[in-house]
Parts: sequence; C-alpha cells; structure tokens
Amino acid sequence: MPEQDQNLLLEIKGLRTYFHLAEGVVHAVDGVDLKMHRKETLGIVGESGCGKSISAYSMLRLVPPPGKIEAGEILFYKTPKDGSTNQAEIVNLTKLDPNGSEIRNIRGNYISMVFQEPMTAMSPVRTVGQQIMEAIILHQKVSKEEARKQTIEMLRRVRMSNPERVIDDYPFQLSGGMRQRAVIAMALCCRPSLLIADEPTTALDVTTEAQILNLMRDLQDEFGMAIMYITHNLGVIAEMADNVAVMYMGRVVEQADVSTIFYNPLHPYTQGLHQSIPQLKDALSRKEHKRLDVIKGMVPDPYSRLKGCPFHPRCPKFIAGVCDEVEPRMVEPEPGHTVKCHLYG
Ligand SMILES: Nc1ncnc2c1ncn2[C@@H]1O[C@H](COP(=O)(O)OP(=O)(O)OP(=O)(O)O)[C@@H](O)[C@H]1O
Ligand SMILES: [Mg+2]
Repeated sequence: MPEQDQNLLLEIKGLRTYFHLAEGVVHAVDGVDLKMHRKETLGIVGESGCGKSISAYSMLRLVPPPGKIEAGEILFYKTPKDGSTNQAEIVNLTKLDPNGSEIRNIRGNYISMVFQEPMTAMSPVRTVGQQIMEAIILHQKVSKEEARKQTIEMLRRVRMSNPERVIDDYPFQLSGGMRQRAVIAMALCCRPSLLIADEPTTALDVTTEAQILNLMRDLQDEFGMAIMYITHNLGVIAEMADNVAVMYMGRVVEQADVSTIFYNPLHPYTQGLHQSIPQLKDALSRKEHKRLDVIKGMVPDPYSRLKGCPFHPRCPKFIAGVCDEVEPRMVEPEPGHTVKCHLYG
C-alpha cells in the first residue's frame, strides 16, 4: 500500500459528471484528477464552461438533475472536530447518498462553499441572522442564545460594520460587499477544514474585491482551513493561491505550485492562457496597438467529445497521429508538477 500523506485533505481521481439531455450528453466534468493538502489554497482556473463549478458541486453532492456523477472517486480525509485524534477517516464523497445524513454533516461543517452569486446561498425571505444561526444549531447543538452570540461574533470576524443590527437585516438590505461578507460568515461559522470559493468576488468592484480577498486570507490563517479558489482571473490566482490546477474541457490538464504555473507552464493551454493576459505596458504604448495573443480556435461545443487530447484542434504543438488519437495520461515531469500532455513522457 502506498504511504499515506498525513497532510492530504482531498484527492479526486477520474471524476466524471455528465448531464444527459435530450440534445445529447454534456460531459461537464470528464476525468478530473487533483490533490489538496491541509491549509493549502488551491486555485482552479480555466475558461467559462470548463467544469469548475460542476466539479465543486460534485464534491458537495449538489449537482442539479439531470446531472449525475458517472465515475471516479472524491476522497475526503476527515479528521474529528473534537481533536480526539489526528488520524483521518477517508470518506468517498461519490458514494454518499446526496440527501443522507453523512453528506449533510459534511456540508457546511467540514466543507463549505461560497457560491458565484451570493443570493443563491441566502434565502431572500429570512434574515441574515436566522440563516447563520440555523447552520450553527444544525451542526453544533447549541441553544438559540448561544447561536445568536456566535453569529454576532462571526459577523464581527468578517468585519461587518454594526453586526448587532445586521443580524436582523434581510440580505436585500445589504450592499453586494456586505452580502458577500455575510455569506462568508455563514460558510465559516462551523469552522470547516475546506472552503470552496466559487468566483466569490466577480460581482464586486475592485476595491471591495481586494477587501474580501484580504479577509479570506486572514480568516484562513486564523482558522487553519484550506481554500479551493475557483476563478478565471489569473491575477487573483497569483495573489491568493499556493498551488494551481488548470482545467480544460472537464479535465485538470496541469497542476503545480503557483510560481511554476506562471514561470514554467508546460501545457500548451496554460502557456496560451498567459499570452492572453493584457499587459499594462502594451496597453499604454501608443505606438504599437498590439492585439492580444488569444488561443486560436474555439472551445468545442460541450456535447462533442474529441478523440485524443481535447485541446489538440487548438494546440500549436499538435503531433498528428498522436494527439488526435490517444488521450494523454497524467504524468509528473518534476516532483509536484503534473501535466496531461503527450509532449511530456
Ligand atoms: N444544470 C445544467 N444542465 C446542463 N448542463 C449544465 C448545467 N450546469 C452546467 N452545465 C454545463 O456543464 C459544463 C460545465 O459548467 P460549469 O458551470 O462547471 O462551468 P464553469 O467552469 O464553472 O464556468 P464559469 O466560469 O462560466 O462559471 C458547461 O458546458 C455547462 O453548460
Ligand atoms: Mg462556474
């Protein structure tokens, strides 16, 4: 048996989540492999539609029908909250009943999620306090008074101004930034070991975004949790992530630490992503109106499934007879740096 890495928190192997529609099958997640360690921030990047959110929903067993996990494992290394032992129990999340008590105990308590759109996480007809208190009471079996006290404390922790008043406000009474703080408070009130943040700042202005990013980093240090940070903004990744997984068409095509992904990307898709970031110096130089080097071609439609490597029709380093025939395996050209591409190994 291979030695078990003590700090391993999450391991996804060959995850496939499909939507069977009348028009065909959407291969939303089509063989995701990745690993996460305790207290790490893993950035997940990739173009719109590449399967970032559905991968996250699969972990929490919240994939909306007709979506279904077809194959693979999501191993969560769960250590007891009372600190009685450091020995992790390995739970395969794909095997749990999506409505059962085991996943409900994990959701919000061990793994929390901040959604792309804050209003999906909060009910518009109940106050901020009612919703956070409900999560606390569900997992901690404390009295209503104690839950209210903890809620005010948590709202203070996320630097909400005037938490004693906000606790009785409805979500629509809050500004976008305050609402996202409330959602973060709700996600963190039971001190999860993993927070999944799905584009948590897309709807915010840059100043508020910076405040929320700083807040998440501070709370991560304080609570010792890992963060899976989903975004298509490479600038945010550079600022937040320790490690990065790059997704393309439902697969993780490369994973490494953040500086390797920026300075030594191996996958032609990752290399292309870098070239399509606007550079301030080019934008400011009036002499040369440089066009952005975008990745050529289009993302194929989600119903089709290409033979070989899914990136081959757009790849500048395409090898005929190989890339269009054989699906590349994940290889590790250097320790901790994995890539799915025929150019390596
Ligand atoms: N409820 C659904 N029914 C059918 N197809 C869906 C559903 N939800 C997502 N999909 C499809 O699954 C694929 C992956 O979607 P997903 O939402 O995971 O993308 P994403 O990487 O999060 O994109 P974005 O950056 O735009 O949020 C897409 O092709 C999408 O159209
Ligand atoms: Mg998404």
